[in-house]
Amino acid sequence: MSQEMIRLTDVAKSFTLHNQDGATLPVFAGLSMSVAAGECVALAGPSGKGKSTLMRMLYGNYLCPAGSIEIRHKDGWTDVAGADPRSILDLRRWTLGYISQFLRVVPRVSTLDVVAEPLVSRGVPPEEAQEKAAAILTRLNLPESLWHLAPATFSGGEQQRVNIARGFVAPFPVMLLDEPTASLDKTNREAVLDLIRDAKARGVALIGIFHDAETRNAVCDREFEIASYAVAA
Ligand SMILES: Nc1ncnc2c1ncn2[C@@H]1O[C@H](COP(=O)(O)OP(=O)(O)OP(=O)(O)O)[C@@H](O)[C@H]1O
Ligand SMILES: [Mg+2]
Repeated sequence: MSQEMIRLTDVAKSFTLHNQDGATLPVFAGLSMSVAAGECVALAGPSGKGKSTLMRMLYGNYLCPAGSIEIRHKDGWTDVAGADPRSILDLRRWTLGYISQFLRVVPRVSTLDVVAEPLVSRGVPPEEAQEKAAAILTRLNLPESLWHLAPATFSGGEQQRVNIARGFVAPFPVMLLDEPTASLDKTNREAVLDLIRDAKARGVALIGIFHDAETRNAVCDREFEIASYAVAA
């Protein structure tokens, strides 16, 4: 059995709807799961059952009010549910990568720098970081003519590839993928699947949301059905 990298225990989430007299919207409860090194787990379930919510909780963007979300980090475990902002930043710098559905574009920063940034923030010299960024952009078939432009005006599929390149440029041991192939054609989808396969072979633990079953089956070892933990409203 490979080493556990992600461990969720008794996680629950509900939203308080402040514009509806503080009504509570329960999403899930009693959710436990773990993911081992080298494994890719598909987060599955009908729309609205909390897949993206759980992803944001894993990354520390949404609070986790109950249970624990432990990620193996450096020589121990970090519980995202109780971690202070500095620990979350350290976790994100060294351990936890996240490819969101859409690229958050920073105006005027070139594609090459956007992709190189996770390496630069780890102290890799900018030139070396840019070389690695160029290599991964090549793998994702992003034309070199675009590398020195800011991605704000890129097409959906081009922006998504910049996003993916940024996510895979640094060797994160744990990765979260939210629909990484949604706006890509077959060739580029294959390129992304290859990156995921390489990551698995290096022992990376991944959790992904993939709406397309063919893509899911190509890289995921199993599915985790979030609807099993649904709470009736
Ligand atoms: N910030 C928020 N405030 C209030 N309610 C929210 C918030 N984020 C999500 N929700 C609610 O939580 C539930 C789960 O939403 P979520 O986006 O996680 O679903 P999902 O499983 O990712 O669905 P889809 O497959 O459509 O992307 C939904 O009912 C949604 O309205
Ligand atoms: Mg979603």
